[in-house]
Amino acid sequence: MKKIFTKTGSSSESLARTGIVETYHGKFETPIFMPVGTQATVKTMTPEELKECEAQIILSNTYHLYMRPGSDLVEKAGGLHRFMNWKHPILTDSGGFQVFSLGHLNKITEEGVTFQSHIDGSRHFISPEKAVEIQNQLGADIMMVFDECIPYPSDHEYVRNSVDRTTRWAKRCIDAHRNQDKQHLFGIVQGGMYHDLRKRSAEALIDLDFPGYGIGGLSVGEPKKIMYDVLDHLMPIMPQDKPRYLMGVGSPDALIHGVLRGVDMFDCVLPTRIARNGTAMTSEGPVIIKNAKHFESWIPLDSDCQCYCCRNYSRAYLRHLFKSNEILGLRLLSIHNISFLLELMKGIRKAIKNDCLIDYCQEFYRRYYQEEL
Ligand code: GUN
Ligand code: ZN
Repeated sequence: MKKIFTKTGSSSESLARTGIVETYHGKFETPIFMPVGTQATVKTMTPEELKECEAQIILSNTYHLYMRPGSDLVEKAGGLHRFMNWKHPILTDSGGFQVFSLGHLNKITEEGVTFQSHIDGSRHFISPEKAVEIQNQLGADIMMVFDECIPYPSDHEYVRNSVDRTTRWAKRCIDAHRNQDKQHLFGIVQGGMYHDLRKRSAEALIDLDFPGYGIGGLSVGEPKKIMYDVLDHLMPIMPQDKPRYLMGVGSPDALIHGVLRGVDMFDCVLPTRIARNGTAMTSEGPVIIKNAKHFESWIPLDSDCQCYCCRNYSRAYLRHLFKSNEILGLRLLSIHNISFLLELMKGIRKAIKNDCLIDYCQEFYRRYYQEEL
């Protein structure tokens, strides 16, 4: 399989590493956070604004775009990059997770999944082949296999059968993939909270020689300690020369714990979602902008942040925007929160290169959570 990952640095105190991933639409540095643009837009932000926040790669969703406006339309537009005017790398999730979490699931069979649309209730069928065909039409630089993301908790026997089916589906995805030169297809390790099944899943997928691997089925309601334990057991058996992507995870603590265990890529709706309900992530912890204490506060959201929002606006003004339900408030907090997580990842990359990652993470943790790492 084509090699897309080059390791550029490592940490002597942990499994963390830095690297570069090469795609058809350019390179990105790891560890990286990918802002989420479910509907071919990172909510409220233009591509220019994303670029100013130093976003290098964004994520979009097969399930949503297939339902609306349809992958045929996106293909006619010249692919997702042209359709949404983002010229840099894009990763699309397969829809595996979304049919299980959003649609009204009707039936899972060996062939695929039947479900009802979350928009109009219409019935649809997605198979591994269909998920790959849709992603080939969308044209993302990185595509994900169609997997079953099981709920937490699930019993061992159910998860074992599910892991084996996800492996068979992964093989079918490879066989259906029509655009191997320009689009890289990643496998997804499942296995719930069972260390033996995670290993079983990883080993089977490693045999299939994907160019990179997602780690799915985490952050589905389990305690954080359980997620970190799974990573502790799983990461040492993952190939060193391929990127590892922890799916759907993006709180600052989980980013740090993931990086320390060797994760290279993350995505999460968290920064943009909480921005829209008025919560900013800052170096001193979360700020709820509507609070009365910001009424007359002339300082920026975060004095350590150089984003467009923090360079130009006071907390008092941002609070006013939120109290008046003005759209600019949603936009400015989204810009800030995305910048904040991308800055954290940049700091992490620098700390790995200087081999002072634990110090960096401890310092961040103390300020953000007022807790020890
Ligand atoms: N996003 C978050 N978790 C998952 C998962 O387990 N599978 C897929 N396909 N996407 C995810
Ligand atoms: Zn800022």
